[in-house]
Amino acid sequence: MGSLDCATLYALTRWQRPAVVVESGGFIGMSSAFILKAFVDERLATAKLYSIEWSEDCEQGALIPDELRPQFVPLRGKIEDFVERDQLPSVSHDVHVNAAFPEFVAKTYAYDKKTRPPGCAAHISL
Ligand SMILES: C[S@@+](CC[C@H](N)C(=O)[O-])C[C@H]1O[C@@H](n2cnc3c(N)ncnc32)[C@H](O)[C@@H]1O
Repeated sequence: MGSLDCATLYALTRWQRPAVVVESGGFIGMSSAFILKAFVDERLATAKLYSIEWSEDCEQGALIPDELRPQFVPLRGKIEDFVERDQLPSVSHDVHVNAAFPEFVAKTYAYDKKTRPPGCAAHISL
């Protein structure tokens, strides 16, 4: 995740003011931190970031400052499994960020299209 990607995420989150962000591939949390900071700067006190990471070999969200953690919901596992089990917030999610691999984008995009209410922001791949 480059600095431009982080700036884009931060700006997009401030612009769209989502109630829910679902991030696949949260890793150590650089992208998560920028999304969470945008929540705070927009005073989106009830917004949540669901961040999914399948690797057990990383400290998920390690880079997130403590003051940004209350709105962070880390989930460990594969994004496909959460989608298949219908365990992600559905009707209420506004922005779906995918930082994983291209083969998963089609599936998550289809899910996003099915569940996203008209007028909500599009699926984003990073
Ligand atoms: C490019 S890194 C993400 C970087 C992170 N967004 C950041 O800014 O620090 C991609 C991550 O996606 C995870 N990943 C890949 N496929 C996944 C899947 N199917 N479900 C959940 N996580 C996945 C990998 O383990 C890896 O940590």
